[in-house]
Amino acid sequence: MKTALGTVLITEDELRRRIGEMGRQISAEYAGRTVTFVGILKGSFVFLADLIRSVSSELHIEVDFMSVSSYGDATTTSGTVHIEKDLGISIEGKDVIIVEDIVDTGLTLLHVYNIFSARGARSLRVAALLEKPGNSKYNRPLDYVGFKIPNKFVVGFGLDYAQVYRNLPDIRVLDEI
Ligand code: IMP
Ligand code: MG
Repeated sequence: MKTALGTVLITEDELRRRIGEMGRQISAEYAGRTVTFVGILKGSFVFLADLIRSVSSELHIEVDFMSVSSYGDATTTSGTVHIEKDLGISIEGKDVIIVEDIVDTGLTLLHVYNIFSARGARSLRVAALLEKPGNSKYNRPLDYVGFKIPNKFVVGFGLDYAQVYRNLPDIRVLDEI
């Protein structure tokens, strides 16, 4: 498939403002607790970096990452998810926020959520930068959503197409040409 970078869907400024709001909301809701942020690699690392710096410095946080694969290099989601890199810490009894770059079918999230609840997290919420309309597999509302976007393939701000474009400072549509 031949592709080209298309229009900017979400600007740097909009990203900064919205992630700031999400951080303030998390700070208020988790005041006095320790929050364990778990980023789903690789796409979430840019969002996670901004999100943790927008939560209050009074909030104690932990960060870890998990890598799961469901996508390969294609732009359609396959039905299986497997763990490529697991957490380095225990989440038992912890207040966990799963951090996702984008929720499309919700399949990745459904799997991660089920794994984490089986491991005995005290509470489990989800922060996703982007949500596509096809989110049907996860089947419950996301706790924190940056932006709802149309059903287009997007790149930038950590999101890739075949490992390219993660470095773009904004979110853009990838067009087929
Ligand atoms: P889901 O399991 O269908 O919800 O897919 C989630 C994963 O697919 C995300 O964490 C992304 O890595 C990838 N993904 C889904 N849509 C896009 C997109 O538009 N651009 C880049 N990656 C995407
Ligand atoms: Mg991802």
